Amino acid sequence: MSPTTRVAVVTGANRGIGKAIIDRLVATGGQDYGLSGKLVLYAASRSGDTPPTPAAASPSVELRGARLSLTDPRSIDDLVAAIKAEHGGCHMLVNNAGIYYYRENITAAQRKETLDVNYRGTLKVCQAFIPIMHDGGRIVNLSSQSGQLHYFAPHLRTRFLDPDLTLNQLDQLVGEYSDAAAKGDAVQRGWPRMTYFTSKAALNAATRILARDNPRLLINCCCPGWVNTELGGQAGAAPKTPAEGARIPLKLALGDIGGISGRYWANDSVSEKGDGKVQPW
Ligand SMILES: NC(=O)c1ccc[n+]([C@@H]2O[C@H](COP(=O)([O-])OP(=O)(O)OC[C@H]3O[C@@H](n4cnc5c(N)ncnc54)[C@H](OP(=O)(O)O)[C@@H]3O)[C@@H](O)[C@H]2O)c1
Repeated sequence: MSPTTRVAVVTGANRGIGKAIIDRLVATGGQDYGLSGKLVLYAASRSGDTPPTPAAASPSVELRGARLSLTDPRSIDDLVAAIKAEHGGCHMLVNNAGIYYYRENITAAQRKETLDVNYRGTLKVCQAFIPIMHDGGRIVNLSSQSGQLHYFAPHLRTRFLDPDLTLNQLDQLVGEYSDAAAKGDAVQRGWPRMTYFTSKAALNAATRILARDNPRLLINCCCPGWVNTELGGQAGAAPKTPAEGARIPLKLALGDIGGISGRYWANDSVSEKGDGKVQPW
């Protein structure tokens, strides 16, 4: 691989914010963020189809489809192995794929799926890719303002924010939520009403742990704002387009973020269209 070739992966790339990230990268080659040279861009989705290349594609981008399901660990390992074999490593990983059952009463299977996709599956992708990420490589996890800790009781906030928290302890904490939700007393125990909130808080905590434990990489999470996609549209008329929702993740993947790692980025409100700043979560 030529030293100026960069390799990037975006999950959930077939629609919504993921597709908008791909469209922007295909159009610009990342040159608007100072990237030069070739960009090999993997648009990962459950189908593995290659998205149609827009007419105005940058000649420096090679767009490829890749099959990846967050609930199929083998598909994750296969993609990592293929990228390692062909390119030696990866420079950018955008974990965009996610699900939201936008209601309080969901089945046990839907609760498990939400945690499996948004937290466990995304964490698995990070852990599989980290060994092949080049030094200075970036990982961006799409989280949500729903994961902010003001939705959680103080005793849970303290545990999520423990600077020494390990991934095992985080798993245990998420397990406690699952047990309480199964018994129907999660809210009485200080958890938010919707599983999505816990899944994204767990993702924020995992992001911080991975960043702490892998200082050679820049690993951050963000809320893209309230975006008009299949997921965002469940809550009403979302004020942002997918292209606007792509701004914060693109900045975290390619822009000048001053070497910051392990933080949560967002705008001051979910309707704002800026490219985000570090915020407490
Ligand atoms: N839209 C918003 O207002 C908003 C706000 C805050 C955070 N976010 C976050 O932004 C991210 C993107 O959301 P979006 O609004 O673009 O949603 P979307 O349009 O519903 O797209 C979700 C994407 O995730 C993929 N996906 C779902 N389950 C998967 C699995 N098991 N394995 C692999 N891919 C899977 C979907 O693929 P399929 O087509 O195969 O289902 C799709 O590509 C999510 O992480 C979401 O939580 C969105």
